[in-house]
Amino acid sequence: MPQSYEIVDHKYDVIVVGAGGAGLRATLGMAAAGLKTACITKVFPTRSHTVAAQGGISASLGNMAEDNWKWHMYDTVKGADWLGDQDAIEYMCREAVPAIYELEHFGVPFSRTDEGKIYQRPFGGHMANFGEKPVQRACAAADRTGHAILHTLYQQSLKNDAEFFVEYFAIDLIMDSEGACQGVVAWNLDDGKIHRFQAHMTVLATGGYGRAYFSATSAHTCTGDGNAMAARAGIPLQDQEFVQFHPTGIYGAGCLITEGARGEGGYLTNSKGERFMERYAPTAKDLASRDVVSRAMTVEIREGRGVGDMSDHIHLHLEHLGGDVLNKRLPGITETARIFSGIDATKDPIPVLPTVHYNMGGVPTNYRGEVIMPTADNPDNVNPGIMAIGECASASVHGANRLGTNSLLDLVVFGRAAAIRAAEIVKPGATLPPLNTASADKAIARFDKVRHASGSIPTAVIRDELQRVMQNNAAVFRTAEVLKEGVEKLDAVTAKMTDIKVHDRSLIWNSDLVESLELTNLVPNAVSTMYCAEARHESRGAHAHEDHPDRDDKEWMKHSLAWIDEDGGCKLSYRPVHDYTLTDEVEYIVPKARVY
Ligand code: FUM
Repeated sequence: MPQSYEIVDHKYDVIVVGAGGAGLRATLGMAAAGLKTACITKVFPTRSHTVAAQGGISASLGNMAEDNWKWHMYDTVKGADWLGDQDAIEYMCREAVPAIYELEHFGVPFSRTDEGKIYQRPFGGHMANFGEKPVQRACAAADRTGHAILHTLYQQSLKNDAEFFVEYFAIDLIMDSEGACQGVVAWNLDDGKIHRFQAHMTVLATGGYGRAYFSATSAHTCTGDGNAMAARAGIPLQDQEFVQFHPTGIYGAGCLITEGARGEGGYLTNSKGERFMERYAPTAKDLASRDVVSRAMTVEIREGRGVGDMSDHIHLHLEHLGGDVLNKRLPGITETARIFSGIDATKDPIPVLPTVHYNMGGVPTNYRGEVIMPTADNPDNVNPGIMAIGECASASVHGANRLGTNSLLDLVVFGRAAAIRAAEIVKPGATLPPLNTASADKAIARFDKVRHASGSIPTAVIRDELQRVMQNNAAVFRTAEVLKEGVEKLDAVTAKMTDIKVHDRSLIWNSDLVESLELTNLVPNAVSTMYCAEARHESRGAHAHEDHPDRDDKEWMKHSLAWIDEDGGCKLSYRPVHDYTLTDEVEYIVPKARVY
């Protein structure tokens, strides 16, 4: 191990890495259960990307019209294009209702109906009575729902005496010789010291990797750090080929305009002024699921019906809703449209384009948040000492395509589930086994190698190349030829990582080093996405393969697993989708054609 680092050791019952919605919900639950809990985060908790979630969090409260968690489950299974695990989906949709009331009692300032109930709006793919007609299921705090939830969860975590390590960059997991997780090594940006955190349970809650793409609604911090740490620890990444494009990113800027805008009555038009979604989704129209709407927009543009000087985007109309509705229900996006596209949304349509928004794949887990390490005998084998929750996890509730507002729900339901499970298996104050210092040393050596990288290509140059390959070669529509080229180009990017140049060697507030470490995390995420996409010869959810336009349940109703080796190579295997529910209260929803 390099000798030049000052090491600080910590011991906890549980460690949570990441302080977004999932991380904070787990942190508060674990602390409230009497476990000594540390939350390690690379940004201040309330700056985590959850803060940007706009339109709502789904739960069948039935405040606006009759609703039922079984309808929510059906919509989620259908939205996922039957790649979701139905035991986990049942758990999420059933637990949604108590989880929302719990948030309300924690103090989340939801918008209200005239009777004082939580306000709910329609969202894409959320339907009443097993797909019959749209239902208002998204519980909203205006168009700042993530902000409201994140601040409340942080306050509750502090109230429950969780300890925060803020602006610590997690480098790698510490694994014992049997493959159990013992904790994490992190770099404190403020004092330059290396910290070894040991615990009985380490929870990854590090979010997605939207920044593997050139244009994304994701914060610049969304670099798939947890996924990459898991991959380096020998854990496979699941279903990485499924990357969601949100239909309404602002043209040119990529900022999110919530689907709640269409939920409140907004609609899309092409250059002929046609409300084209009526042709693609006769029942749900503009509120079909996101993969369907993004593909329809892309087809309109490809066939020459895009708007603007270059016919390369689509219009989102909100003008007809009027200033009162926009001010009350959508104040944030009205401001965003003004700042980022110079549009007064009360007068003119907003220029929009499908933009990378969410990763359905991630670290495989069961519905309790425990990480799965599949073996030849057991595809559901639990890896001791580690959990994953939120966007970095693949539970798998979103399968091949996530429904809007199911992400905030995923965060709180599985953050809570992880806390419940940790409280069952970790005894407060129990003695920790001896730390595998060799594993921690390996993490520090990796950090040191990146810090001293003295090749010829700056980090920003390699990152730009990676992001452009992802944008061009793993987009809304894919072909065999484009994916093959994507694999080759990413192999070349991986090779260039040996020639990376890090300019700044300091240990305090070194953004060059942070971005370089982040790039080492983006690479395995990008590579696994492209390899899995190239291998999947069907179209399902967000994976639209033009050479294989149909879903193929016989061959492909299975989860992809990508194993990243030490040299950055990628091997694939598969594990079965769960074809069973959690309880006898619902039956397995059999696959059928997906129409909206
Ligand atoms: O459109 C939105 O407000 C995004 C919500 C989500 O991704 O769940």
